[in-house]
This record gives sequence, C-alpha cells and structure tokens, in this order.
Amino acid sequence: MNAKEQIAALTEAINRHNYNYYMLDNPVISDYEYDMLLQELAALERQYPEWALPDSPTQRIGGTVTKQFATVQHQFPMLSLANTYSEAEVEDFDSRIRQLADLPVEYVCELKYDGVAISLIYSEGRLLRAVTRGDGVQGDDVTANIKTVKTVPLKLQGDYPDFFEVRGEILMPHKQFAQLNSEREEMGEQPFANPRNTASGSLKLQESAEVARRGLDFKLYYALGSELTAATHYDQLMQLSRWGFKMPDIIEKIGDIQGVLNFVHEWDSKRKMLPYDIDGIVIKVSDYAQQQQIGATSKNPRWAIAYKFKAERQASKLLSIDYQVGRTGIVTPVANLAPVPLAGSIVKRASLHNKDIIAQFNVHEGDTLLVEKGGEVIPKIVGVDESKRLPDALPVAFITHCPECGTELRSNEDEAGIFCPNEQHCPPQIRGRLEHFIARKAMNIDSLGEGKVNLLYQAGVVRDIADFYTLKREQILGLEKVIAAEEDKPERIIGLREKSVENILAGIERSKQAPFERVLFALGIRHVGETTAKKLARHFGSIDRLACASVDELLQIADVGGQVAQSIYSYFNDPENLERVIKLKEAQLQMAVQDTGSQPVSRVLEGKIIVVSGLFSIPRDAIKELIEQHGGKNASAISKQTSYLLAGEKMGPEKRKKAETLGTPVISETEFWKMLE
Ligand code: IVH
Repeated sequence: MNAKEQIAALTEAINRHNYNYYMLDNPVISDYEYDMLLQELAALERQYPEWALPDSPTQRIGGTVTKQFATVQHQFPMLSLANTYSEAEVEDFDSRIRQLADLPVEYVCELKYDGVAISLIYSEGRLLRAVTRGDGVQGDDVTANIKTVKTVPLKLQGDYPDFFEVRGEILMPHKQFAQLNSEREEMGEQPFANPRNTASGSLKLQESAEVARRGLDFKLYYALGSELTAATHYDQLMQLSRWGFKMPDIIEKIGDIQGVLNFVHEWDSKRKMLPYDIDGIVIKVSDYAQQQQIGATSKNPRWAIAYKFKAERQASKLLSIDYQVGRTGIVTPVANLAPVPLAGSIVKRASLHNKDIIAQFNVHEGDTLLVEKGGEVIPKIVGVDESKRLPDALPVAFITHCPECGTELRSNEDEAGIFCPNEQHCPPQIRGRLEHFIARKAMNIDSLGEGKVNLLYQAGVVRDIADFYTLKREQILGLEKVIAAEEDKPERIIGLREKSVENILAGIERSKQAPFERVLFALGIRHVGETTAKKLARHFGSIDRLACASVDELLQIADVGGQVAQSIYSYFNDPENLERVIKLKEAQLQMAVQDTGSQPVSRVLEGKIIVVSGLFSIPRDAIKELIEQHGGKNASAISKQTSYLLAGEKMGPEKRKKAETLGTPVISETEFWKMLE
C-alpha cells in the first residue's frame, strides 16, 4: 500500500471505530489500540498533507486557528419554538392541531436540550459547513470547531442524498462541565456559570484543539432538504441514524395528548438522572404533510410546541451577605446561604441583585429566603418566607462604603444600583478592566484568563491595560500564586512556567492586530458595548477624531443617546485615560479603521448628515445602510449639523417641528430615492 492508500484505509478504519464508540456505544478495540491508529494516521498526514482527507478523524483533535468567524446566511431561517409552562396550553395546542389536520395525529416527544442550536450542511456525504443559529437568518461559520465534536459525523454511510441540512443542539454534558471547571479553579480562574453558556462560548473559541478538549456533544433534532424522502419526522430521524447520526436517546411516538403529558411528567421527574441539562419537552407533529398543512408563523412552526419545566425552588437560611464590586464599580449583594440541594447541585450562594431588591423583599438578617434555579445555574432569590423570621431580626442595612477600597458609595439615578466612584484606583474595578480588555470580544488574548490576569495584577506587573504591552519575559516567568485551602481541598500553588509565558507574550503580540472597533470596545468606556464601538469606529474612523468629538457630534450617531455621549466625552477628557490611549498607540494597537478596500456605492450623499424617522417601504435599517453606502452619515437627533430629515409615514410631529425651527430640509422617501438615482 502506498501512503495515499494507507491514509485512506486508516481514515476509514478510525472513523468506523469512532462510530462504534460514540454512536453505538460499542467499541471493538481498546483505547490504546485506537490511540496508536490515530497517531499513525497523524504522522502520515504530517508527512503527506496532500493526501489527508476532509473527513480525517485527526480533525477531531483540532489544530485549526480561526481568526474571524465568517458570517453565513442560513438557507432556511432557523425558527424557534413556541414555549409554554402550562399543561392546559399543551392541551390547547393539541385541540388546535386536531382542528387543522385532516387525519389522526401522531406526535413525537423529544427532550428539549439546553444547549445551542447548530446547522450542519452535508454535501456528497461529507460535513461541508457548520453554522451557529446567530439571529436565525445568519450565523457564524464554526466548521473547524464542530469537526471536533465526536457525535457529529464527518462522513456519512449508506444511501444518503447529495445535499441536505441537519439541525440539532450542541451541549456540554455535566461530567465535562465539572471537569473543565475544576481545571479552571486549579488555575485560579473563575469557573463557568453553566453548561449552556460554556457550550456556546466553546463554539467561538479560536483554537479548535481547545474545543476538542471540552468534550461537547451533539443532539440531533431535525433535517431539511428537497432530496429527503421520509414521510414523517420520526422516520427521518431513523433514516439519519442509518446514515451515521446518533438517534436521540429518548424519543417517543405518541398518539394522544394524555400520553404526551405522561411523557412530560416522566421526564420532569427523571431529568436529574440525565448526564446533560434539559429544560423541557418538545412535542412535534410527526407527519410532514400534516406539518405543511398546519404551517408556521414568521417565528415558530405551529406544528410543534416546547413545554418548559418550572424552575425548582428551595428555602434556605441567610447566613451573611457579601458585597461584590464589579468592573464598573457596581456593588452586587450576594447571599451566603445554609447549603441546600437544588436541581442537581448544592446551593450555597445566590444573587440578591441590588439594594432595591433587598428593600422590595424586605430582607431581614437570618431570614429564610426562597431560592430558584431556572434555566440558569446561578440561582436567584425570589422571595422571603416571613413566617420564619426571628422576632428580633433587623432589616438588612446595605453597606455605605466600598468593601474593597473604603470609598463612600454613591447611587446613580439612571442605573439600578449603588456604585463605588473610585474608578481609577479601586482594585476590582482595575482588575475588571484588565479582564474585560483581554476578553474574547475585546482584544481576545485567550492565553490570559482571569486567573493569570489576577496573578499579574497581584504581582504588580500589570496595573493598567497599557502595561500588558510592556511586559517582559523576566518579569513574569516563575510568578506564583498560592490558592488557600478550602473545605476538602488542600492549599495549592499555580505558577507561570516557560510555556505559559511564551503563550501569554505571543497572545499579547497577536492582539496588536485586533481591529480598531475591538480596541475601542476593549477600553471599557462605560456604556460603550460592542455595537456602539463599531458605530463609533465607523463614524469617526480613528481614535484621534473620536477623542476630539463634542457631545453634540457624538449625538449625531444613530442610537447614541445623551448618557452614552456624555460617558464617551468624559472618558476622553480625563488625563489618565488620554495617557493610557497614548501608551496603547505607542504599543502599535490599531487606533484607526483599516482601509478594507470596500468602496462606497456612490458619493452622492457625501458630507450629508441625515436623520431618518417614521416607516418606509423597506426596513429603516436598510435605509440607513443605503445612506452610508452612498457616502452619507446617519444621526439620531436633529441639530444644526443635520442636512436632511428623511420623513417616513407616521413620523412624530415633534421631529418635523424641530426641523422647521432649525430650518432643516424635510425630504420624503420618493425624494430620497431620486437623490440616489
Ligand atoms: S426543534 C423549528 N427539537 O430549542 C424549530 N429544538 O426555541 C425546530 N431545542 O432553537 C427546533 N431541543 O435550539 C427542537 N428536541 C428539540 C430541541 C430543540 C432543544 C432548541 C433549539 C431551538 C430552541 C427552540
């Protein structure tokens, strides 16, 4: 056999072993033998990369680094399901269905997996593309990451059609979630909150090798495509299982609504035993012809419904309250509770949200609180059992000074919450800014996690975001942090060895390529989220122009309101912030929009600032997009700078009045189209 044939044979054999192991739960070789085969294939592929096959099992190990996930349009929109918490509504659903369908109805009951939806496109039997749900119309291409999920077949078997789409849920089983969190804690990093968010975050990791380590699972629930021939949803799933997909573990065909409700009751009580989270039961009409007959709204199919389980609730005694200071200085009260079992884990802490909530529930010291866990793993307080209150208990008094830096706390009328105003020098606020700066959506320095950032902060080598860019190998090599002993865990030490240091410095260096809009978001200017950062970057083009903008100019940007404008203006009028920006500029971060080569469609609106208001023949956002494509700028409020008020139907009278007062020309949609001609 030559190398090409050997690679093909190994690929085929290992894929078969994967199928036996992951889909059939029936391995025929030992783990050791499997590893040997995989290593042999990996070595051959390294030597002859040109012969590696697209369905090679080595892709399960990862190794791809995705810089930017491409946005892809779904061929069919990814709808969601109508939800209910009420059994009576499930019965109503059944009555509606029976009125609409001609023949007797058969339902398929499935688990409602608590993960993230994914669309998988198969072409000629191979996984071509995997796309996240996104906004339902378009999502991110995460193919390299999905290829590491063992229960997603890379190559199909049997008589599959040429082209079709499979949809299902990516989730993280409890075991993998617990393992990942214990590793994170070991590294001194903040544990992840729940398996669903962790699964979702994992899909967006840049390194597929890290995704492979996370042990994600795929649950199939749906297939689409004109070449599919099954007549019912159930038969379709059966067919998919013959082509190499794993049939859902728990699924039942049921003909009557009482049977459906029995299934719901059964799994509401048995769900704790499942190795992954579910948050309800999905009930689907199985027959495709009936599905068609029953139809869909723009958001949901009418032939399916999701019954969601009610959150579990427990009562527990309030032991004390911790006050946590966040990145923006907001103080969050967290209740320490007497441990209680709740929905599969032991709860010891729960958020008390803010001062108003404490007042609203009239929480007293030592009270018995009611804790609930909905879809979230972080439980919340939903009430107080006042009958258990001790006669001499005092109402909880919210703290008056920052527990971290001692500064007197303030309350801000616009924001729900009490905050520490010592923005520049309060430790958790500094640490929070550092953590925000490195986050995935900001500078994306994933070689640094919260634990390592804390280590650098405590060692005094990084006290400001600009310090990342002057870090030297010698400063951080060998840094160590002692993690104090806890209940059953002994004291531990985490340290930065050669390899981590190398990764950290490389990650920091790579971040210099992050586009301007992400740098802007990473600065952590209050009220400037990802979207606003994008708009600011597009409007001003560079940090210099943005830093010089007046509040009025900032208000010209669509969706930038007074509070946001004021916050940006204050940020750039604080000498400490300006000094920071200068340092980052010197470190050669992207402080201006790069010319991507995308040319405006025309320049007919160049220099024109337009306020769009009312309803138009196309969505308002599309109109705004057109303005930009033709060289113009959008603004949300009319001012002296506004060139036109583009008035659609049902525009409020105030806008017109303001335009008249300032002498701003008002144009109609027809006039606008004429301008573009
Ligand atoms: S069927 C047309 N089946 O729940 C909708 N969805 O809001 C087809 N989900 O986005 C979805 N388990 O991510 C279906 N057994 C199941 C499901 C399921 C979980 C998710 C899915 C969808 C959301 C519905």
